Amino acid sequence: MALIQTLQLHHFRNIQQATLHLSPGLNVIVGDNAAGKTSVIEALWVLASGRSFRTQKPQQMIGSDQVDMTLFCEVFRLNQTHKLGLKRDAQNLELRLDGKTLRNQTELAQYLPIQLLTPESHRLLEEGPKARRQFIDWGCFYHHSSFIQAWRNYQRALKQRNQSLKRQLPSNQIRLWDQQLIESALQINELRSSYVEALTPYLMTFIQHLMPELSAEIETRFYPGWPANQPSFEACLSDQFTRDLQLGHTQYGCHRADIRFRIQQQEPLVSLSRGQQKLFVCALLLAQARYLQQQTNDSVIMLIDDLPAELDATHRVTLLSLLQKLGIQHLVTTTAADLIPNLDPSTSLHFEIRHGQISPLEAN
Ligand SMILES: Nc1ncnc2c1ncn2[C@@H]1O[C@H](COP(=O)(O)OP(=O)(O)O)[C@@H](O)[C@H]1O
Ligand SMILES: [Mg+2]
Repeated sequence: MALIQTLQLHHFRNIQQATLHLSPGLNVIVGDNAAGKTSVIEALWVLASGRSFRTQKPQQMIGSDQVDMTLFCEVFRLNQTHKLGLKRDAQNLELRLDGKTLRNQTELAQYLPIQLLTPESHRLLEEGPKARRQFIDWGCFYHHSSFIQAWRNYQRALKQRNQSLKRQLPSNQIRLWDQQLIESALQINELRSSYVEALTPYLMTFIQHLMPELSAEIETRFYPGWPANQPSFEACLSDQFTRDLQLGHTQYGCHRADIRFRIQQQEPLVSLSRGQQKLFVCALLLAQARYLQQQTNDSVIMLIDDLPAELDATHRVTLLSLLQKLGIQHLVTTTAADLIPNLDPSTSLHFEIRHGQISPLEAN
């Protein structure tokens, strides 16, 4: 179980100062356009991942005319309350967990298994494989403590190998990196492929909940990042060495992995309507959430930006009742409170945001 009890923002975008005491169930943030709703969601995502989903430039998140911003939250997880803090100025990033300075964002991430649904989430289906790799790796990270080290080893070996290729170093110096690359690739590949396989039945379940009209089986297929006709990644590296040298980088590997879905033998982009594609992404997130709960007893926190823009009234009820049934804490933003059904007033709280000022609101 992971629950955010308190969230504090200081000099974050248009929010000067705010403290929110959250409910373990539904939390609705109501406000007009440009009030600062997405900023609240963004702040939590930044605490959990170190990155914004809106900007590559961290400085844009610091309130104008301010020199730094601070985010703080209290998370109740596995019977303990933890204090997570992040402070950023133009140059530096400071991370703290329970009063201790951290060197690494991933240590904070472990305490905040956050999932995000925004009007941009359908990119998961539309765009290149990067977002889908991040989707798989999110799961591998929260299920397997060994994943992050393997991933770092892979990235390091890949970077070194690519630099050696680019500089046209002698083959033996390039191949120096192959062993580390292969070892970490095999670890990553095993974790990713078994994660995708285990996730598939959960995906089917939530697709049935959200889109009972779809009768066909859903097929998920994992692509490791090298051609299927290669006997192994090691063989692929040897086989492609001359080509890698010509290109100046490593063509194949875990950095090219992907997951593809098929419904009625077709890609979701072809066989599903826009609305159904959004529901498909919801089902993917719910599948991850449920699988994590069942395997680790940990629970995700779901952030949904502009829910009414995402789903129609019927599907809003379906999604919110699933989240409630699964005991998942969720933060939902909206321009009007009455667009969000209040299924269980005993576990829901409403907040109003106006020009960056947040205040509790009586539930309707
Ligand atoms: N660094 C910043 N300092 C001050 N205001 C900002 C900063 N970045 C964005 N804003 C402003 O904050 C407001 C809130 O934006 P946003 O969170 O997207 O609102 P909403 O999601 O409610 O529409 C916008 O008017 C935006 O221009
Ligand atoms: Mg917004």
